Amino acid sequence: MVNFKEEIAKVLAEQVEGLELSEIMDMIEVPQDSKMGDYAFPCFKLAKVMRKAPPLIAKGIAAGISECELFEKVEQVNAYVNMFISKEEFVKDILDEVITKGDDFGKSELGEHKPVIVEYSSPNIAKPFHIGHIRSTVIGNSLYKIYDAMGYDVIRINHLGDYGTQFGKMICAYRHWGNKEDVINEPIKTLLEYYTKFHIEAETHPELEDEAREIFAKLEKGEPEEVELWQWFRDESLKEFTKVYEMLGIEFDSYNGESFYSDKMPRFVKELEEKGLLQESQGAKIVDLEEYGLGVALITKSDGSTLYITRDIAAAVYRKETYDFYKNIYVVASQQNLHFQQWFKILSLMGYEYAKDCVHVPFGLVSLAEGTMSTRHGRVVFLEDVLNKAVEKTREIIVEKNQEDSEVDIDQVAKEVGIGAVVFQELSNNRIKDYVFNWDKVLNFDGETGPYVQYTHARCASVLRRAGEDVVAKAASGQADCKYLCSESAYQLAKLIYKFPAVVIDAGEKYEPSIVTRHIVDMAQAFNRFYHDEHILVENEDEKVAKVALVMAAKNAIKNGLALLGMKAPERM
Ligand code: ARG
Repeated sequence: MVNFKEEIAKVLAEQVEGLELSEIMDMIEVPQDSKMGDYAFPCFKLAKVMRKAPPLIAKGIAAGISECELFEKVEQVNAYVNMFISKEEFVKDILDEVITKGDDFGKSELGEHKPVIVEYSSPNIAKPFHIGHIRSTVIGNSLYKIYDAMGYDVIRINHLGDYGTQFGKMICAYRHWGNKEDVINEPIKTLLEYYTKFHIEAETHPELEDEAREIFAKLEKGEPEEVELWQWFRDESLKEFTKVYEMLGIEFDSYNGESFYSDKMPRFVKELEEKGLLQESQGAKIVDLEEYGLGVALITKSDGSTLYITRDIAAAVYRKETYDFYKNIYVVASQQNLHFQQWFKILSLMGYEYAKDCVHVPFGLVSLAEGTMSTRHGRVVFLEDVLNKAVEKTREIIVEKNQEDSEVDIDQVAKEVGIGAVVFQELSNNRIKDYVFNWDKVLNFDGETGPYVQYTHARCASVLRRAGEDVVAKAASGQADCKYLCSESAYQLAKLIYKFPAVVIDAGEKYEPSIVTRHIVDMAQAFNRFYHDEHILVENEDEKVAKVALVMAAKNAIKNGLALLGMKAPERM
């Protein structure tokens, strides 16, 4: 694809004195208001070298480049040269690019296959997988797709919360009141019940606490009976989580969670000691981070057991040694900001320079319109139930909308659109913002929603079906005569499509999938404007082919965008 900035810089270079090509390129601006041109060149900096007033310089440059076929129009306004790209050239270029690249449009080679770890989802086993977990899961999945599209080799890790004293309690409870069948039938709900019952019983029978502690100690030592039970709880929980991952189309390369590091910890405790970072405090071992304003980090408890933070340090080193990551990204709630600041600091104090390549990508809370969630009070909304409900509600809408189109695979579409709606909503807001989950907003086919965008994609598909194979084939083979695509709505749509690859990179660099989401909405809206303003399937064959080519490009860009969010783009709905 033509890099217009670069081409313009080359043209300008012939007119200005004393500036390198790269300097000129940096000076070229994209005006906020498209009435001021597609690109603008400010001439203030040139006054000194060229010994003229900036407006005069601008005037000279404008006159000098006005004949260039890259431009439709060149204007001087004060100290600026405002340049309007030839629409025909521009649109032709973008259509060729999108249509030849197909699924690869939007991808880049920026990452040069450098290894990047994205850690996301990471739920705690034997605990409900609730609506709160959707954030890390979906944001992380999208970041994986975005980094993959940027040409990095991404390793997807689910750092399961599968270790800690609570498993002593759970095993203890199971031995007293448990039932195998119940665990198999409904693992998470059952295990949670045991856990709750343990706490109630322990109030009147404190000896249970000791028993649980002993069990956990045995688990740490690797006693077969305890390990077997723990392993079983883990497997059953994972089966439940997998159901949700399958619904969302999400996969991982590794489920190495906290337990994986349980035997790797002594090395780090020793190392912290040797490096003089560890201090005793009432039998426990801590790293004092007060001088950095980060409080105190507890590394081992007084009984010698290790903690969450210790396992994170071990995991980071393991990941560096195993994957030699270029970046190690953690998609974890902002409530854990301090935790990450603390251990990133400890890692760097230990002398691991790659602490700087570890990135915490925080996000805000999700709450329900009906009130806040609380695991302890049983006010939990399971993610699986939310997704099922979304599919069910979507099904009703689709059935109603499709009284006559018998070719729509209702079940499939309801799944793709229902689940997509939840995902899209999740990725619509700036991730750091708290937001309230709201059904009406999620499933609105006309708002800035997943269904709206998918519907726009299906509309593109429908235009192509109606255009017929011959016209589509001509459009696909680069035969579009772009003089038919110079209307304002066609041009604006093409411009947004042109921006898509840069948007993907921007989203990756800012760890912000919502940048992609918003751009998809913009493209969809621009398409719909084009669709309403213009007659696409016109008599004139050449005009029809050109317009169909633009529809193809829009469809492709929207589809690729949705794929980066982890969403499907149905052909009919
Ligand atoms: N299991 C944790 C939780 O549910 C999240 C783990 C985040 N990842 C990490 N490496 N600490 O709160």
